[in-house]
Amino acid sequence: MQFRNLVILSAVAIVLPVQWASADIDLPTKFSNQGTIGNTRHNLTQRQTSGGGPSGASMDQFRNDYREVCVYCHTPHGANTNIAAPLWNRTVRETTYTLYNQASLSGAISQPGANSLACLSCHDGQTAVDSVVNMPGSGGYKEAQKTSQDNVFLNTWTNTSGPDATSHFGLKEGKECLGCHAPGAELGAGATSFTTFALGTDLSNDHPVGVKLPTGADWNVPSGTKDNIRYFDANSDNRLSKGDIRFYDTGEGPEVECASCHDPHGVPSAGAGSKFNTTFLRVENTGSAVCLTCHNK
Ligand code: HEC
Ligand code: HEC
Ligand code: HEC
Ligand code: HEC
Ligand code: HEC
Repeated sequence: MQFRNLVILSAVAIVLPVQWASADIDLPTKFSNQGTIGNTRHNLTQRQTSGGGPSGASMDQFRNDYREVCVYCHTPHGANTNIAAPLWNRTVRETTYTLYNQASLSGAISQPGANSLACLSCHDGQTAVDSVVNMPGSGGYKEAQKTSQDNVFLNTWTNTSGPDATSHFGLKEGKECLGCHAPGAELGAGATSFTTFALGTDLSNDHPVGVKLPTGADWNVPSGTKDNIRYFDANSDNRLSKGDIRFYDTGEGPEVECASCHDPHGVPSAGAGSKFNTTFLRVENTGSAVCLTCHNK
């Protein structure tokens, strides 16, 4: 697919919302983006697994350093079953999102499903990145954390590597993490801009999620099925693999969700050793390969 339609790229660019136009760039990061999620931006301890990355010290006051990578999202016990996401350890607030609403959409669009809500539990900026239900080890557990963030509970965590966090920040537009990580930020400090990471609750300028695959010549049809997932079998191994773009069915039929295009753990890019695709994409977007997996344009 990726060889087919280089000509079409300019045509696609015209209809895209602005943020999609700047394809294939990564923001500067000291993470190696290699080998393990521990060396990606999704290591919310902010301490890279193998040396050379950020020390994380500038962040100690603003998020609990749980000293483990998975715990910011998963827990082996006491998971949040309000959401159909694997062993989910995060606060998921009840939220009504503003949906993509261009008249050109051919099918219906519904509120984001579980495989988007999981991401939005950080990326909509309403919840701190360290707002978990079950802290590691003999750390605390709080049932009410499943639906709301309690800073008194979060303050019970003791940081063994620096000062304890007294603020619990999220990816909030103009505030919190973006209080430093944005141009002209209120807290100053000139940190790397995270502006495009803060999606907010208005998803009308983002690629639609909660949409089904329409029928017709404009669309490619996924060949694989595994439980509630329909997938494009990128490596033709007849199995669902990390690099397979997919649709999730959580009761309304197979739909596009954030994790259709992104794997939050990172996917090694083809032929590049253990280096991950940029921006957690399941497929490197060279020649718009991500887009052309579903869209026949
Ligand atoms: C008081 C300002 C401030 C706040 C608030 C802050 N940071 Fe930072 N952050 C910095 C500075 C300064 C650096 C070092 C310069 C850089 O790499 O951006 C940094 C570095 C980072 C890095 C390493 C950058 C890289 O890729 O090498 C990550 C990741 C990060 N911050 C995440 C966060 C998150 C998540 C939050 C919110 C929980 C946050 N920061 C809040 C100032 C801040
Ligand atoms: C930033 C959040 C985040 C972190 C950190 C994270 N995960 Fe996940 N994980 C997710 C989300 C979201 C899903 C569901 C979407 C999907 O299937 O990719 C998931 C799914 C999974 C699954 C089931 C699907 C699959 O890809 O196999 C496993 C197993 C898993 N995670 C293991 C881990 C382990 C082990 C770690 C730590 C080394 C970890 N995760 C860290 C967000 C995260
Ligand atoms: C635990 C909170 C959390 C969850 C859950 C989470 N993210 Fe993130 N994500 C972040 C933070 C914080 C950053 C940016 C700051 C940093 O560098 O740590 C980020 C960065 C990213 C980036 C930019 C990566 C880059 O290299 O430029 C992408 C893409 C992304 N996330 C997608 C997702 C998707 C898709 C999901 C769900 C499948 C998800 N995230 C779930 C916290 C989260
Ligand atoms: C249809 C595929 C697709 C879906 C669905 C999707 N993304 Fe992305 N996303 C991409 C691509 C492609 C990029 C890289 C764009 C670029 O390089 O500018 C990206 C980039 C990002 C970035 C990095 C910042 C940026 O804009 O470059 C974040 C954060 C992110 N996505 C989060 C999400 C979240 C959260 C969801 C669900 C609400 C989501 N994505 C749904 C394809 C998708
Ligand atoms: C997982 C499959 C999938 C991938 C990958 C994908 N899309 Fe989509 N896209 C869809 C679906 C489904 C819709 C909703 C179509 C509808 O109902 O009209 C959609 C809608 C759109 C729309 C809005 C169309 C309208 O009628 O308003 C645009 C523009 C778009 N996609 C562009 C892209 C771009 C650019 C990429 C790559 C960065 C991409 N898509 C990747 C499945 C996908």
